[in-house]
Amino acid sequence: MNAPAPPLALLAELTHRCPLQCPYCSNPLELVRASEELATEDWLRVLNEAAELGCMQAHFSGGEPTARRDLETLVAGASQAGLYLNLITSGVLLDAARIDALAKAGLEHIQLSFQDTDVASADHIGGYAGGHAKKLDIAKQIRAAGIPLTANFVVHRRNIDRVPAMLELGVALGASRIEIANVQYYGWALANRAALMPTREQLDEATKIVEQKRETLKGVAIIDFVVTDYYARRPKSCMGGWGRQFINITPTGKVLPCHAAESIAGLSFDNVRNRSLGDIWRNSTSFNRFRGTEWMKEPCRSCDRAELDWGGCRCQAFAVTGDAAEADPACSLSAAHDNLLASAVTDSQSEQTAFIYRRIGGAIHALRDDVPAARSNIQDPADARLRGE
Ligand code: SF4
Ligand code: FES
Repeated sequence: MNAPAPPLALLAELTHRCPLQCPYCSNPLELVRASEELATEDWLRVLNEAAELGCMQAHFSGGEPTARRDLETLVAGASQAGLYLNLITSGVLLDAARIDALAKAGLEHIQLSFQDTDVASADHIGGYAGGHAKKLDIAKQIRAAGIPLTANFVVHRRNIDRVPAMLELGVALGASRIEIANVQYYGWALANRAALMPTREQLDEATKIVEQKRETLKGVAIIDFVVTDYYARRPKSCMGGWGRQFINITPTGKVLPCHAAESIAGLSFDNVRNRSLGDIWRNSTSFNRFRGTEWMKEPCRSCDRAELDWGGCRCQAFAVTGDAAEADPACSLSAAHDNLLASAVTDSQSEQTAFIYRRIGGAIHALRDDVPAARSNIQDPADARLRGE
């Protein structure tokens, strides 16, 4: 196999700590504690190794990356290494002074997530009292600091009908990009699939609105629309192909081709604590396992889209068929496609409306929001554990 081209981007998952607890969280089921996270010096070394490898961008993510008090130091180090820097955040731990410090350190873009446009619904989904109001304020501070903003809305059955309001809000906040992302059913989102899956009609309506607005908002904001795999006929090119464009580093330093790769049984992943990033990118068994097209079976092997979508998502193929080398079941040519579609239709008509929440800082608590303890899913913003204090 030829040496792979350099990665385009590094996704640095700095921490799993997060003050929100969205029911569609894509973090693994087992969350990493603050004491297990990579140290500042490790991250600085890794960011330099990424730049040396030819990587262009670093995206700081989590969990909530602003829970790391060394974020400014990491941004400054990555900026000096020459990387383009983006912060993916819920915003609730930010304030004007910190935004200013991050801008001074070299931060070039912020992607701010919103749970909804309806205040009560947004705070309920994120499980954080006052979260939506705080985000609105933080969006203004970000723009005041001159940092380009992407407004990210994760949509599902409970809020997808408010896509028009989401687009309006994104424009009003001065976002140059608005991302309407349907939930992807990995990690914790799978536990809530029946409560989250939109109906086909809802998805079709949202698609129509996005297409219309793409025209009317030309020159104002770019709209990204990530559709629900389950209703697709052809899969997305997940991560732009396994080991082709992206490196994902977990809070403990494991290097993955995508954020969900550890869900695939039988693969093991190297750690930046004991191997250089360049060596892992070029030579690790797990990165090479699904690179290119050699590993493909039929129908992908002889498909003319093999080098367009790279067989879709390996993690979804494994989750649904038990074999990560199968075609992504989102593809209508996959033997598992009809079952996947049927499960989407069934889920979208489910009477389950309650979310199952989990909490950070110990065992996972399945906490239903349709019981009298409902408000206990709202976390106290002052909870120091969430900040790693
Ligand atoms: Fe993509 Fe494989 Fe489906 Fe072809 S058969 S469209 S390569 S997933
Ligand atoms: Fe892992 Fe798609 S999420 S390959």
